Amino acid sequence: MSIPAECPFHARSLPGDGTPLNPSPRLAEWREEGAFTPLEFQDGHRGLVATRYDEVVAVLQDPRFSMRPSRMPVGPDADLHATAHGEVADAEAVPLELPGALDEAGQASDALNLLNLDGEEHAKLRRAVMPRFSVRQARGREPWIQAMVAEQIEHLREIGPEVDLWRDYGMHISARTHCHVIGIPDHHYPAFVALFVESSTAQQKYDFIRMLLAERAESPGDDVITDLLDNRDLDRIEIEGLLRLLMGAGRDSVAYLIATASVALLTHPAQMAILRDDPEQIRPAVEEFMRAGAMFITLFARTATEDVEIGGTTIPAGTSVSVSPVGANRDPRHWGDENPDDFDVTRDAFGHIGFGYGIHGCIGQQVARVEIREAITALLREFPEIALVHADQTTPQPFAHPVAVYEAGAVTVRLDGAVRESAASIVA
Ligand code: HEM
Repeated sequence: MSIPAECPFHARSLPGDGTPLNPSPRLAEWREEGAFTPLEFQDGHRGLVATRYDEVVAVLQDPRFSMRPSRMPVGPDADLHATAHGEVADAEAVPLELPGALDEAGQASDALNLLNLDGEEHAKLRRAVMPRFSVRQARGREPWIQAMVAEQIEHLREIGPEVDLWRDYGMHISARTHCHVIGIPDHHYPAFVALFVESSTAQQKYDFIRMLLAERAESPGDDVITDLLDNRDLDRIEIEGLLRLLMGAGRDSVAYLIATASVALLTHPAQMAILRDDPEQIRPAVEEFMRAGAMFITLFARTATEDVEIGGTTIPAGTSVSVSPVGANRDPRHWGDENPDDFDVTRDAFGHIGFGYGIHGCIGQQVARVEIREAITALLREFPEIALVHADQTTPQPFAHPVAVYEAGAVTVRLDGAVRESAASIVA
């Protein structure tokens, strides 16, 4: 079967009626209708979205799909095109200061970002940072992360008993770990938060990165910045571009997962009891948080560079293809009789697509696992009475499109469990 790249009658928009733990039923309907569904992207161009596990994996590991924004078709609303790859136009940045990778025509059009690159150009940059994000490295960070999480628990005690687990807990854990791994010293933490957690221009971000590079050159550490300074294969533009990507990447995702895992447990008391009774169960539980609470409804779109046949479907060259981790993570074809819509911390959820897969699979996933594990373990251990007051994410929230991500939103809890009757009804 061949799917036309332009299918004016059947293209759908991503459904906005889902929540992280209860995705829109439309995704399951699309999955049952076919492996690929025609999708209208934010700028109005038409492409496809894969919602079945096998096809999602096939797309993510196939080098015939390009991540270069310059290859992607442009729709009538061209102003919204660039946002498809997460590079929001920054009117105040000094353009000449922005690192850019050359495309086939020699144009510096695609920002130097792993998620905008293909082939050896991508592999070279990825190789430069992968060792710092290995399983061994993540294990080595465990004592530091445990101690830092303990500080955040004390912070909750000070500001409680009513706290927002996303803003007051998850955000701090993710931002502090990010700085620790990348090599941003404690005295620059407030500046990092102001520039990368809150908002700033690209120029301000690069000024900060250059200042850090100068400082680290004088006093090397055990971190990403030091690795990059020692790397003879990278030029300065590549180093600065990589650091900009890493400082922004994944930080919100970790905070989102800590918040969403908390909501999942607080609304499923029997599952929370399993973890309280057997703290060792937290390792598989983290995979289940990632599977059932996946943040990405769709990933960054790829473009077929030639006709590609997947599972009997031919995707014509030039077609934009997005994939849905949320769809794949609940595909009964892959998860069998295990009722994939249930949240079950005893399930073997390894193999989920919450961190993507294949060529561009998440670099930070090992350290993210440690952060989520330590954050949830400490929360359950230190606050036996904790109870949910309100979670924004239990009702549908707006999301970006077509790189559609759920927002964590406020997750208000009472650390002492003293919740009014009406709020207690949130718990299923
Ligand atoms: C729970 C937390 C996280 C989630 C859910 C997550 C999710 C993802 C996903 C789904 C992708 C693939 C995107 C695609 O293929 O279109 C990705 C890529 C990436 N992630 Fe994460 N991430 C997390 C944490 C982190 C952390 C802590 C870092 C560290 C800096 C990080 C750095 C990256 C980078 C650099 C890429 C691009 C890799 C490439 O293109 O080769 N992520 N992440």
